[in-house]
Parts: sequence; C-alpha cells; structure tokens
Amino acid sequence: MVEKLEEPKKVFVKTYGCQMNVYDSNRMEDALEQDGYERTANMEEADLVLLNTCHIREKAAEKVYSEVGRIRKLKERRADTNRPMTIGITGCVAQAEGAEIMKRAKAVDLVAGPQTYHRIADIVNRAEQGEKPVETEFEIEEKFAKLPVATHKQVQARGVASFLTVQEGCDKFCTFCVVPYTRGAEVSRSVNQIIDEARGMVDAGVREVTLLGQNVNAWHGVGEDGREWGLGELLHGLASMEGLERLRYTTSHPVDMDESLINAHRELDCLMPYLHLPIQAGSDKILKAMNRHHTVSDYMHIIERMREARPDMAISGDFIVGFPGETDEDFEETLKVVRAVKYASAFSFKYSTRPGTPGADMENQVPEEVKSERLRQLQDLLNEQQVEFNRTCIGRKMDILLEKKGRREGQLIGRSPWLQSVIVDDMLGKPGDIIHVEITDAAPNSLNAVAAQKET
Ligand code: 5AD
Ligand code: SF4
Repeated sequence: MVEKLEEPKKVFVKTYGCQMNVYDSNRMEDALEQDGYERTANMEEADLVLLNTCHIREKAAEKVYSEVGRIRKLKERRADTNRPMTIGITGCVAQAEGAEIMKRAKAVDLVAGPQTYHRIADIVNRAEQGEKPVETEFEIEEKFAKLPVATHKQVQARGVASFLTVQEGCDKFCTFCVVPYTRGAEVSRSVNQIIDEARGMVDAGVREVTLLGQNVNAWHGVGEDGREWGLGELLHGLASMEGLERLRYTTSHPVDMDESLINAHRELDCLMPYLHLPIQAGSDKILKAMNRHHTVSDYMHIIERMREARPDMAISGDFIVGFPGETDEDFEETLKVVRAVKYASAFSFKYSTRPGTPGADMENQVPEEVKSERLRQLQDLLNEQQVEFNRTCIGRKMDILLEKKGRREGQLIGRSPWLQSVIVDDMLGKPGDIIHVEITDAAPNSLNAVAAQKET
C-alpha cells in the first residue's frame, strides 16, 4: 500500500428535512470516507461542506442561500490561508433549483440531486478540479446498486437503530407536494439488496431497523420464494433474521395499506406497534382537492383494523391546515378526526404553496392569519393527546431498546415500542440491550423508568 503523507481531507454534512435525507447523508459520508475523506462535526475545519437540503415547504431555497452566504465567509477566510473549501448542495433543493443555484450563489461548487449520490465522490472530485458540476438526472436503480456498502465500523459509529431506504419517490401526486418532482417516480429496491443491507447492519450491532420510503407501503418486489411481495411479506422476510430485534417502517399512505401489512402486525412480535399514517385533512372535500384518493371513513376503517390486529397500536400522522378552499367547517372536521383517533404524536403544518404543484394555482387560497390560528388550535389538541398518551404509560411495564448514554452519570436512554424516549437511571446495561422496565414518570417528550421483573 502506498502511504499517504498528506492529512486526509475533512467533510462536514448538514442534513435538513426527513429521515430519508438522514439516510442519504449517511450513505454519502460512507462513500466519501471510503474515498479518503474523514468526517468532521466542525464545519470550520471542513475541506468539503455538503448541505443536504429539503424542499417540502416554502423558504427552503431561501434558507439554503442564506446558509451558503454564511459558509462563504468561512470559505473566504480559509482561502486566505491557502486551504480551499468546496461547497456542495445536495438533496431536494438541488434537484428543484439545479443550475439556478450556481447562478445565484457563486460560492457553490457542486449541485447533486438525490438520484446521483452513487457518483458523489466523482462529482466532488470534479468540483475540486474547478469544474462546477450540476447533476440532477434520475437514475435511481443505479444509485442503490452502486453506492458503496457501509463498513462495520461505519455502521457501528451510528448506533443500534438504523434507517434503511427500501422505496423512493412517489406516483401519487398529492396536489400540495413536491416529492414526485424532487425524488422522481416510485421505485422499490430489490429484496436481495434490502436483506443484504439489513444483514450488514445487524452483523455490525444494529438491533432496530426502520424501513424508509416516501410511500413505504407501496414497496413491492419479487420475494425469496419467487412470488410478488408487498411490505407485509418483506417484514416477514426480515423478521426471521437473527439479531434483528425490532422493525419499523415509515411513511405509509392509506391507499396502500393492504391486508398483509395489517396482518404482519398481528403476527410479528418484532414489528413495533406504531403506525405513522398521515391523513393531512379531515374533510372529504379537501381530501379530494388534495388528490388523496381516499375518504375520511376509509382512513378510520384502516385505523380500526390496525387496532383490531394489534390493540396497543399507537397512531401518528401528518396534517396540513389551510389547504386552498378549506373552510372553518372543513377544519372542524380535521379536529373531529384527531379527537376520534387519539394520536400518540403527530406533525402539523400550515399549507405552503409550492410552485409547480397543482395546489399553487388553486383559487381560494387561505389567508396566513387563518392558517396560523388553525395550526395553533390543532397543535394544542395534538400536544394534549401526546401528553395524555405518555401519561397513560405510567405504571406500565415494557421492553426498551437501550440506544445511548444519558447526560448524567449512570443514565441510559432507550426507546419504547411506541417510539418514546425512555430515561433510566442507575441501571446496568449498554446500547443494544433490550431491558424490561416500569415507567415511573412522563413528560411531553420523554418517559422515566426503573428496572422491572419480567412476569412469567
Ligand atoms: N405544505 C405544507 N405541508 C406539506 N407537506 C408536504 N407538502 C406540504 C406543503 N406544500 C407535509 C405533509 C407531508 C409531510 C412530509 O409534509 O403533511 O406528509
Ligand atoms: Fe424534504 Fe420531502 Fe425531499 Fe425529504 S423527500 S428531503 S421531506 S422534500
């Protein structure tokens, strides 16, 4: 081996947006590390800064431009001492804005959309040579086949719970959403690829895998038995993997919620009783305008079947308030859905007009102050429900997966089956252990617990 005399270059990646971006950032870091880069958590010392961006709501691009403005100053300071810095924009803003970014932000050296990450090391290389690459083509199958496999050390560094993208893109075309344009058409990764990646994770100490997809329950592929599998079958396939203790998946669309997925919750203990199922709005009129292809009653029926399959199922969701045409009565129906479902947690947003989506051209746009007031009401209710859900856990015994050390000496932080953060003091155990605890206290965003005996 030829010994390198120079210091390895350092890369800093900042991630915005969803869990898929977190996964993508990890894969890019792995690829760059294998190409000789070292990771750093300190932007100041980075030779390469990548901003992995999100375009889901307004002002995303503006935020990126102002962040680049700040980094440019660092870049200029480094240039004075002859240490060049390369700045790259990746993710959904890169896809949506493309070459425009180079025009507006001269400090940017490369632009790479989500389907080009398997070539990230080469794109960075070209940028370092002074070329200003803008790569935004869609070639999704290539990406997953060609991205380098993470080493054990790389997987281990990220802890015992991992994301694994199984599906990307979307063909649903909800009228508010940019994803079909930024991530492209719906594509499922092959069973082999998924199982290999999961096995690599488990061999490196991962105990919990969350399968990711913009439409994760639309995932399909040819299974190990030669038959067409859906997500339910895939979960079955993964459940038998020794050492893989817990499975989750996100985000699901109501239209693709099939029987086999519901049954998987009945049949698999390792499949956590937690479903993130956005409804977005509680009025059929608005759901139609959103092009959701389901009604409120379809949604409620799925929740009912899920709870019948797994009575302790916790439900989470996403909501948009103030979609064009939403009246006070329509909004009241959203509150009605929330009251009926009783969410364990949820995300809620003001409708944000996205140029290029059908929603942007609709009449009856809702005034900003109305959106703000509706969001406040909805979030008050959702927060109340989250506190209530956590409070009902007090006195309950459950298994938690220890993930990391807490802030205080002797403290450990774990995750409940329902995705709550659980703090335990003075207990023996290490990240990766599943321990049995009793919940003693509940805060809005975490639970406290002590060791408990398992009932036999
Ligand atoms: N405005 C507000 N929220 C949006 N989301 C997606 N597009 C928009 C938009 N234009 C929300 C949806 C989705 C979540 C990821 O982001 O609730 O489920
Ligand atoms: Fe943002 Fe959506 Fe892209 Fe994720 S997929 S990064 S949430 S725009």
